Amino acid sequence: MKGIILAGGKGTRLYPSTIAVSKQLLPIYDKPLIYYPLSVLLLANIREILVISTPEDTPVYERLLGDGSRIGTDIRYKVQNSPRGLAEAFLLGEEFIGNDNVCLVLGDNVFYGQYFSELLEKAQLQIKSGGAAIFGYPVANPREFGVVEFSSDNRVLSIEEKPAKPKSNYAVPGLYFYDNDVVEIAKDITPSARGELEITAVNDRYLKRRKLSVTLLGRGMAWLDTGSPSGMLKASEFVQTIQEMQGFYISCIEEIAWRRKFISRDRLRILGEELRMTDYGKYLMALADSETE
Ligand code: G1P
Repeated sequence: MKGIILAGGKGTRLYPSTIAVSKQLLPIYDKPLIYYPLSVLLLANIREILVISTPEDTPVYERLLGDGSRIGTDIRYKVQNSPRGLAEAFLLGEEFIGNDNVCLVLGDNVFYGQYFSELLEKAQLQIKSGGAAIFGYPVANPREFGVVEFSSDNRVLSIEEKPAKPKSNYAVPGLYFYDNDVVEIAKDITPSARGELEITAVNDRYLKRRKLSVTLLGRGMAWLDTGSPSGMLKASEFVQTIQEMQGFYISCIEEIAWRRKFISRDRLRILGEELRMTDYGKYLMALADSETE
């Protein structure tokens, strides 16, 4: 399975902070925002990754993540010249996707919770025989998201993008698993009223084919909002709180790469030494010296 991180957009809701810098490069506490969605792909055991961003920002992502080999992955880049919607990822990524299934994660989505790896594994299994797997998460402000409607026996009835009158409070987070048909579907949908190729239109096609699975995420999962300065600050505080309480880092890409056996313990130590001036680097070095795998 291939993975795509979409890190485009102008980030206007965070202006002036994002006038000169891509939103997904801003820190959530101690690491760039893009580390969080990247860690989702690594947790899903996905090592072939395409980062899509703007013409200005793509070289900056390349500077940050390189060709991915440092963490045992293969990271490539593709420029999105103008933001034409999330589903454009599958058009820009057509060659990269080839004949594989694909997971799309939005560059500003932060997930954290127990059994998350199991959820990711389940989603991949679900689409092995075709279809799409997405998630639903209860939010207080569903108008700002894609929203799923359910029947009383929990069947998915509809999925709407930023509805004025949401039919439920379950938003669709920016994490989507698709079979290879997604490329053809993305070619076939037409832009919405706001001029974008909506991911919700893609999901609706799968729903109409009866091939859309929606897994509801419960209270034990955190899907953090990074859509405003206050959301960014709260997400940072959340990460800081958990990390300081538990001593485990959230979305530490080097740690996940090591635990997933993409890199050796020696490689982890080298990566830690390079950052030894920070707690982050010291954490990696301590992991490399720890007893456990
Ligand atoms: C996008 C999608 C929306 C989804 C959201 C998740 O909205 O269009 O369906 O719920 O991401 O972050 P955006 O935040 O790009 O407006």
